[in-house]
Amino acid sequence: MITRIYEDYRRLSTNTAREMLRVVLEKPEAVLCLATGATPLGAYAEFVRQAKMQRIDFSGIRFVSLDEWVGIPPSNPGSCHYFLNRHLFQPLQIAPAQIYLFDGMSADLQGVCSRMDEHLEQLGGIDFLVVGIGLNGHIGFNEPGVAFDNKAHVVDLHPITKTTGQKYFQSETLLNQGITLGIRQLMDAKTVILMANGAKKTNIIQQALEGTVSNALPASILQSHPNCLAFLDAEAAAQLQDSSRRA
Ligand code: F6R
Repeated sequence: MITRIYEDYRRLSTNTAREMLRVVLEKPEAVLCLATGATPLGAYAEFVRQAKMQRIDFSGIRFVSLDEWVGIPPSNPGSCHYFLNRHLFQPLQIAPAQIYLFDGMSADLQGVCSRMDEHLEQLGGIDFLVVGIGLNGHIGFNEPGVAFDNKAHVVDLHPITKTTGQKYFQSETLLNQGITLGIRQLMDAKTVILMANGAKKTNIIQQALEGTVSNALPASILQSHPNCLAFLDAEAAAQLQDSSRRA
């Protein structure tokens, strides 16, 4: 894992966007899997801005879901669907045929998982993955205790995820389950960027990057990914022992 520490959120975002741009330019048929949430917002805004300015052709790029809340419709601004549409698919005018997302409203969630597994296999896996990290160390909705050989699965959300997840919703929302790609699929991604910013993430980032690799802290598995970049701002990196990694 290569760690890069940026002075602030703006630089973290710009540099993440640069990596994203590099992928879509180098591989016009790339498969992207992009986390939702607060962390990557600045990166996606910069990515869209640059992509439009450079008139990048997205017609061959494919997108797959990382995760979704179960029981939350795409029309809800707190859903991952809504986020991806608003911040990426609409501004980049991505055609529906290029997008494959989890349907968290389905009555057959196991079927949703199997179809995602099949779809991802047909695509040849993820080329480029962006993940954030939860305060409990989750990536996607791979919660503490998750099996590292899992593929797409439905998960009972961890109490911290239920609580912190409220920030995405306009009013208090019942969050019990999620649906997520599994660690095996994330570890198969050719390139991974783990992003974190802010003082709230300082402690969990230190454990994830420098602690023991364990499913008690799912993000720690990324230490053993052959091509994972940890992009951090100075606040999130504040407790890392090795601070020689400033960008
Ligand atoms: C969202 C996701 C989550 C978030 C994580 C951090 O699609 O997969 O794992 O990346 O909870 O969320 P923020 O960025 O809001 O702190």
